[in-house]
Amino acid sequence: MSRFVKLMLAFLAIILLLSATFSGVAAFLIGSRVLSEAENRVESDLDAAQEIYDCYSSSLYDLMRLSADRFYLRNALLAGQASLAYGEILGTMLREDLDFLTVTDAEGTVVLRAGNTGVVGDSQAADGLVAAALQTLEPVVGTTVFGAGRLSREAPAMAEQARIGLVETRGARPIETTVETSGLMLVAAAPIADYGGRPIGVLYGGLLLNRRFDIVDRIKDTLFRGEQYGGADIGTATLFLDDVRVATNVLTEDGSRAVGTRVSEEVYQRVVVEGEPWLDRAYVVKDWYLTGYTPLRRLDGEVVGMLYVGILERPYTDLKTSSTWLFIAITLGGVLGAVGISLVISRRLSTPVRALVKASRRVAEGELGTRVKVTTRDEIGELARAFNSMAAALAARDEQLRELARKKIMESERLAVVGQLAADVAHELNNPLQGIVTYSHLLLERMGPDDPQRGSVEKIANQANRCATIIRALLDFSRPKKPHKKAANLNAVIEECFSLVEDRALFHNIEVVRDYADDLPEAVLDPAQMQQVFMNLIINAAEAMGGAGRLSVATRADAEHRVIQASFGDSGHGIREEDLGRIFDPFFTTKEVGHGTGLGLAISFGIVKEHGGTITVESEMGVGTTFTIELPWGRAEEGES
Ligand SMILES: Nc1ncnc2c1ncn2[C@@H]1O[C@H](COP(=O)(O)OP(=O)(O)OP(=O)(O)O)[C@@H](O)[C@H]1O
Ligand SMILES: [Mg+2]
Repeated sequence: MSRFVKLMLAFLAIILLLSATFSGVAAFLIGSRVLSEAENRVESDLDAAQEIYDCYSSSLYDLMRLSADRFYLRNALLAGQASLAYGEILGTMLREDLDFLTVTDAEGTVVLRAGNTGVVGDSQAADGLVAAALQTLEPVVGTTVFGAGRLSREAPAMAEQARIGLVETRGARPIETTVETSGLMLVAAAPIADYGGRPIGVLYGGLLLNRRFDIVDRIKDTLFRGEQYGGADIGTATLFLDDVRVATNVLTEDGSRAVGTRVSEEVYQRVVVEGEPWLDRAYVVKDWYLTGYTPLRRLDGEVVGMLYVGILERPYTDLKTSSTWLFIAITLGGVLGAVGISLVISRRLSTPVRALVKASRRVAEGELGTRVKVTTRDEIGELARAFNSMAAALAARDEQLRELARKKIMESERLAVVGQLAADVAHELNNPLQGIVTYSHLLLERMGPDDPQRGSVEKIANQANRCATIIRALLDFSRPKKPHKKAANLNAVIEECFSLVEDRALFHNIEVVRDYADDLPEAVLDPAQMQQVFMNLIINAAEAMGGAGRLSVATRADAEHRVIQASFGDSGHGIREEDLGRIFDPFFTTKEVGHGTGLGLAISFGIVKEHGGTITVESEMGVGTTFTIELPWGRAEEGES
């Protein structure tokens, strides 16, 4: 995995983590916000529902107060003939859509029933509302419950309407009865007074709320205005008698009103038994609702039923879920976008780097012509440019080396050919030359000292000698002899060379300055071959000085590098800079034709190398030249060969 990809993955992980956290928090906040909003709405809806219900009771209150004050009723009671008011009372009941309307005397004994004409004479003094009206001489209104007997007495139709078959309901408290025969009533009672203000009776009447749907529907329409969600009304309202739905617009599975179903035991316990309102989610008939229940109390404070409003929870949970999904989608979209962008970026970044890596490999494999495209102006572009110039420099260097190697090879091949040729020629010439030398000397011996031919024959003999020397040198060079090494003192070897040359005319005006080291360890060498080397150096020096000057010879032991040094410094004409590299080449000479073979240093070089040593030169034109030879010391045990 490339570094870029790793980097991008790390970034992505961070983005993913951040966005997951953000969307989680946001979804949670939105969810709880949505729910608390819904809960607030339920609470205010419940208040509004209560208000609407109170509206019904206050209009009933007003109706009863005004009707009780009518003169015909007063007159009929004062006349002791309540039936005189029957027509008016019945008219009021029908006109105001009351379910019953009844008149008692001052003791609470029924004297007229609009809903059930035949039944009078029973006492309703024990009825809470009647008693309150008589006692306070003020109208009263309240929610109450009529049993089946009371219902059929007040108006037989009510008993029929109130009767509700109970429906098995999940979660409701267990009960034994299967039918509800009582009625939830909204009743008002108003005292009837004579002209002096003394009580002469009570007018009471009201509404049976069982199966009376106008109140709940009005609550629903007012609060929810027919709002729907998924084909269902979003809001519902219900009146409960005890825990039984007696008037509701909650629908069952088959679409009918869920009259006869009951509230969950939990809610019943809280609202009916404990008299507390309930604000929470609750399972209502077939759906989860955010619900509010408030107790309906009788005049004496006892809870006889409940008023309920509920909002379908589904729209809110759906909103919550959809917003959560929206956030997840946004997050995923963002992450996908980030992935895409980072892939593009990482490719942008890594492609030139990869190209560089590939190109480097090719250069390493020898394709020095490889170049990379410079596409950017940033650091990578700079790197690419640097790479290209490096490759170009490498290619140039490579070409130089190749050229040099080619030259070297050609040169050494040429030298080898020339050397071989020279050796062959020398070998072929050696025998005839020996003949010339021998016979020219024989001729000289037989000639008298005054022979006129003697001068010519002497020239022949001398030149033949010279030729023989050259041939020998050639043969020495081309077929070097194996050295016969033994331990020897370098000072002694050098001194012997001087003893051989000192008498020559060339050395008469040369001052030899010796600086031999006393403690020189013995070197392992072939004395004859080394003498050849030193002789050559000494003669070269003398010739460079033109036979007059100073030759300094010195030896010393270098313990640190375990070598023995011998140096020959002259005060001759020196060597030109351009010749310094060539003086060890065979046949290189600056001497006139016939005076040097150019083999002396070449042979010396070969001998020193054969001894495991080195020969070096330092020279300054017009000042002098110093040759230094270094030979390894010791190794006597392996020296003999
Ligand atoms: N001490 C020196 N001072 C100046 N030039 C030198 C010295 N020694 C060598 N040379 C130069 O190096 C050349 C090569 O020397 P080398 O001994 O190989 O051949 P040579 O002396 O010319 O010929 P030969 O040794 O066969 O007589 C000489 O021709 C000379 O130019
Ligand atoms: Mg020489």
